[in-house]
Amino acid sequence: MYIGTTVTQFIIEEQRKLSNASGDFTSLLNDIVTACKVISNTVDQGALIGVLGSAGSENVQGETQKKLDLITNDVVIKSNEWAGHLAAMASEEMDDIYPIPEQFPKGKYLLVFDPLDGSSNIDVNISVGTIFSILRCPDGISNPTAEDFLQEGTKQVCAGFALYGPSTLMVLTTGNGVNGFTLDKNIGEFVLTYPEMKVPEDTNEFAINASNDRFWEEPVKRYVDECLAGDTGPRGRNFNMRWVASMVAEVYRILTRGGIFMYPKDTKDPSKAGKLRLMYEANPMSFIIEQAGGVSHTGRERIMDIKPTDLHQRVPVILGSKNEVDRLVSYHKDQ
Ligand code: AHG
Ligand code: MN
Ligand code: MN
Repeated sequence: MYIGTTVTQFIIEEQRKLSNASGDFTSLLNDIVTACKVISNTVDQGALIGVLGSAGSENVQGETQKKLDLITNDVVIKSNEWAGHLAAMASEEMDDIYPIPEQFPKGKYLLVFDPLDGSSNIDVNISVGTIFSILRCPDGISNPTAEDFLQEGTKQVCAGFALYGPSTLMVLTTGNGVNGFTLDKNIGEFVLTYPEMKVPEDTNEFAINASNDRFWEEPVKRYVDECLAGDTGPRGRNFNMRWVASMVAEVYRILTRGGIFMYPKDTKDPSKAGKLRLMYEANPMSFIIEQAGGVSHTGRERIMDIKPTDLHQRVPVILGSKNEVDRLVSYHKDQ
C-alpha cells in the first residue's frame, strides 16, 4: 500500500531541482519536523502528563510563560542543536540568541521560531502551533550575533508552521508555492494532503480582536465598520467574523477558504508598533501567505521588506485575500 508523499520525500524531491543542494537543508527540515511531532504528542497528552498551566515566569516581552512555552522551546532546541546545520537559533521564549554549543558542529543556517503560538489557548484546548523561519547565516560568520539574524523577510530560505488542531498539520514554503501535510499518527509521518495551497483573492470573512476597537487607527475603523454594515453599507454585501487568538489557526483558515487577518497598529501601548513579532510570527506567515497568492502588509509597507532592528520587534499585521488587504492598504493611503 502506498501512503502518499511524505514531507521528507517532498523536500528531497524539491531539493533535487536545485543543482547545488547539499542535503543539509533537507536534513535541517527533517529535524524541525521531528520537533513538531514531539510537540504534537506533548500537546495531545496535555493534562495527562501535567504540562498545562503557567510556568510562573515571564519572557523578554513581559508575557507570562506557560509550562508548554518552555517545554516546546526546549524540544525545538534539542532537536536542532546537534546535527551541524545551524549556527544559532532565536525564539520568542529566549531573550538572546542561542548559539550552537561548542560540542556540536556549526552549520550555515539560522533558525528563528515561535515554539507555541496561541499559547493563551492551550489550557482551553483550542488549536495552537509552532512557527519557524530559516535564514542563511551571513558568509564567513561562524559565531553569529543577534545582528546577523536581522534580515528582511525576503531573505528567508524557508518558512513553515505546524498546527496542532483536530489534525496535526504542517504547512511549508521554500519560495516555490505552499504545501500542506497531515500527520498520520499511526505511522508518524506528515503526508502531503494539501498540494499548492492558494488564498482566494476575494473573501467575506475578517478576523480581528474587536475588543481593541477603541484603540484602532482610522483606516482600520473604517474598514471594519464597512464590513459590519454588511449589505446595507458601502460594501453592499455581508461579512462573517472569526477570532481564534492563535495566528496559526487564522492563517490556516485563510489558506483554506480565504479571509483577512488583522492585528493592526493601535494606541493601546504607544511603545509597541503592533502585537505580533516580526522575526518569528509576521515574516514566516507573510512568506507563506505571499507564496499562496495573498498579500501581507502593515498598512504602510510590505512586511517582508522591513529591515529588522530587533529580534523581538513587533509590527502591525494585515494579511490574507489580496483584494481585501489591498483595500485596507488603500484606506491607509487615503488618510
Ligand atoms: P503567542 O501565544 O505566541 O504569544 O502568540 C499569540 C498571538 C497570536 O497567535 C494571536 O493572533 C494573538 O497573539 C492573540 O492576541 P489577543 O490575545 O490580543 O487576541
Ligand atoms: Mn505567537
Ligand atoms: Mn508563542
